[in-house]
Amino acid sequence: MSLSAPTLTTERLTLRPVREQDRDAIVAIQSDAAALEFWDEPAWVDPARFERFLARSREMAERDEGVRLAVVDNDSAEVVGWCALNDWNLTFRSVRLGYSMARRVWGQGRGTEAAQALVGWAFTDLGVNRVQAEADTRNIASGRILEKLGFTLEGTLREDCVVNGVVSDSWVFGLLRREWDYRPSPR
Ligand SMILES: CC(C)(COP(=O)(O)OP(=O)(O)OC[C@H]1O[C@@H](n2cnc3c(N)ncnc32)[C@H](O)[C@@H]1OP(=O)(O)O)[C@@H](O)C(=O)NCCC(=O)NCCS
Repeated sequence: MSLSAPTLTTERLTLRPVREQDRDAIVAIQSDAAALEFWDEPAWVDPARFERFLARSREMAERDEGVRLAVVDNDSAEVVGWCALNDWNLTFRSVRLGYSMARRVWGQGRGTEAAQALVGWAFTDLGVNRVQAEADTRNIASGRILEKLGFTLEGTLREDCVVNGVVSDSWVFGLLRREWDYRPSPR
């Protein structure tokens, strides 16, 4: 199977492949060190980092490894975040979810809305059986997104990450196809 990054539309958002014109918006998001306090790598200090990000986004799709999508607000047409499916494993039918939203839109349900669309695509179009997500155990907002989407907290990876010298634990969350298909509605 060959991956082509999709375009997904929700009530407030459009998720579509990352492109060159997204540079300023993505650089702003990934350079916000305070917002990325619980991210698993340091905030960007060099805007040129975007070129690597874009190249890697394309490479991921070409190699069937996953997708990265810009999250665009339907009203303003602004890029307000990005999300990803990483490490797609065709044999295990599993993939890992990630997301990063601009601080100005936090707390409005957009992170959940974007993640929900991407998870739905993973189950229905990518045909995975399991979506996994890890989050720093201090990242309450991320844990809450996963909880709202029906993920199960499966465990804790102790001292999993070291970012700027800070050692942190990670939660591991998992959501299975059958749980997605039979999830209670509305969520
Ligand atoms: C994690 C992140 C994507 C959340 O985005 P968002 O758009 O604010 O998410 P939502 O509004 O959909 O949901 C966040 C939920 O967390 C809750 N929340 C946020 N901070 C909280 C806190 N300190 N304590 C309790 N709940 C909190 C919100 O109230 C909301 O829950 P609710 O809908 O039940 O009220 C955003 O904070 C972000 O991009 N952070 C930086 C990158 C990052 O950490 N990504 C995740 C890596 S695992």
